[in-house]
Parts: sequence; structure tokens; C-alpha cells
Amino acid sequence: MRLAGKVAVVTGGGSGIGRGIALAMAREGADIAIPDIQVLNAEKVADEVKALGRKVLAMKTDVTSAADVKAMVDRTRDTLGKIDILVNNAGMAAPPGMPFMNNTEEDWDRAFAVNTKSVFLTCRAIAPYFIERKAGRIVNIASIAGPLAATTMPAYSVAKQGVITFTRVIAKELAVHRITANAICPGVLYTEFWQKLAAHIAETNPAFKGMTPRQVFDKRVSDIVPMKCEQTPEDIGNAAVFLGSDEARYITGQALMVDGGCVMW
Ligand SMILES: NC(=O)c1ccc[n+]([C@@H]2O[C@H](COP(=O)([O-])OP(=O)(O)OC[C@H]3O[C@@H](n4cnc5c(N)ncnc54)[C@H](O)[C@@H]3O)[C@@H](O)[C@H]2O)c1
Repeated sequence: MRLAGKVAVVTGGGSGIGRGIALAMAREGADIAIPDIQVLNAEKVADEVKALGRKVLAMKTDVTSAADVKAMVDRTRDTLGKIDILVNNAGMAAPPGMPFMNNTEEDWDRAFAVNTKSVFLTCRAIAPYFIERKAGRIVNIASIAGPLAATTMPAYSVAKQGVITFTRVIAKELAVHRITANAICPGVLYTEFWQKLAAHIAETNPAFKGMTPRQVFDKRVSDIVPMKCEQTPEDIGNAAVFLGSDEARYITGQALMVDGGCVMW
């Protein structure tokens, strides 16, 4: 068990990729905190974590709120005893896409609040504690949409590239304290995120008119993924386990593509 005795926080762990990360880490021995704005989903995943024999804490948290984030960190430490790993997974798709002139200020503010500012808030809340312990792992879930400069979601694309850059900034700053910070960039996964996005694409893009969300998704996989097969939340969970484990102690400031070969850099 590569995470035996560790405690991990997985934001947005109530569905999709976050659930995959929470379960992968629990299987490797970690106790898990699941702060999610949809608390009922977090509680369902908490039951799955418990069934694996781990301690777990599900709680309602809005990661765009500094007060909620601070309360989440305090409650996790009080209930689970400590925090070793922070996974910033909560996020949201943010259409509309091309032309970017159709984006509103509200589209950009929301995309940045949920995908980027949230990562700053959780890292700011937890860093003093990690510094005091001279240990800590930060894993930020970015996206291939950052390096790909996705015209389908300009605000999201820029927000996720921001996550990669912020990860590097804090990796440099915190390295001296033996704290690592890395990003994972998933490719395309058929979670609620992509189900909603595919429905939006089918409605708004004439090239996809009449297609079901699943058909839109399958076409995207076949168009952009060199492996031509679907990836799963477990693929991201496995990468997060590695970056959170002792095996990755000397890896920091990296953005790891887990995407079937979409982005090679
Ligand atoms: N699905 C994909 O193809 C894909 C690709 C690349 C990156 N990502 C990223 O992976 C992460 C997870 O996405 P997913 O596909 O599992 O999506 P999802 O919609 O299934 O899950 C997102 C989770 O985040 C939670 N969340 C949203 N806003 C929140 C907030 N303000 N406070 C707390 N929790 C909040 C949701 O309740 C949900 O549980 C996101 O950061 C997303 O941008 C997804």
C-alpha cells in the first residue's frame, strides 16, 4: 500500500475524476476527506471509501469561498488528525466557445473562480501547515485544454493553463520545505462534466447537430486521442497516487499529461 497511514483531501471528490482519485487513494491505504459543493454525492463516495476500510470525512464546501476552504482544512485536521496530500480536483467546464467575443465577463469570472482561484485558496490555507511539518504533496487537476489552447472553451482553457503556472510558482516557492506541487492534465473523460459539455456542443455547433452527447464524445475521442480509446477516472487516480506517494518525492513543478497522447511536450 503506497499511501498507508496518509490523509488525503480530494476536492470535488463526489463525482467523476475526483471519485476515481478518492477511491484509488483509499485502496492504497489513505484516509480521505471529500469536500464537495454537492454534499450528497460526497457522502455516497464516502460510503465507498468506508467499505474499503478507511476513515473518511464528507463535507459541504464551496472551494470558491475562502471561509469554506479554511473551515474544511480545520475540520479535516481535527477529524482525521492531519493532512498529507491535497488534491485540487473540483472544477467545471466553461463554454461557450468560439468566437471568444461571445464570452461574457460572467463566463470568465466563474471559470476562474471555480477552476483557478479555488486552487489558490486551498493552497494558501494549507501551505503554512505543510511548511510547519516540512512535508506535503499538492496535486492540481488541470487539463489538456490549457496547453491545447481550446477554442471550444476559451475561459476554461486559460483558467487551466493558469493552474499549471500556479503549480510551478508554488513548487518553486515550497521546494525548500520539502513540499511538492504537480499538476495532472486529463484528456477527455465521459463524466458529468463531458456529458453536459457534449449536450451543449450538439445544441450549438451545426457540425454536431442531431448527435447524442455520447456520439459527440466518441467523435472527440476519435478526432484527438492518438490511442483512440476512452480513458477512465482510475487512470487519473493512479497518477495522483503516484504523485502523492513517497516514490515521487523528488518530482515537483511538473504537468503530467494523462491523455492517451493528445499533448506531447
Ligand atoms: N472530464 C474531463 O474530460 C476532464 C478533462 C480535463 C480536466 N478535467 C478536470 O477534472 C476535474 C474533475 O472533473 P470531472 O470530469 O470529474 O467533472 P464532474 O463535474 O464530474 O466533477 C466535478 C466535481 O467538482 C465539484 N465542484 C464543482 N464546483 C465546486 C465548488 N465550487 N466547490 C466544491 N466542489 C465543486 C462538483 O460538485 C463535482 O463533484 C475538473 O477540475 C475538470 O476541469 C476534466
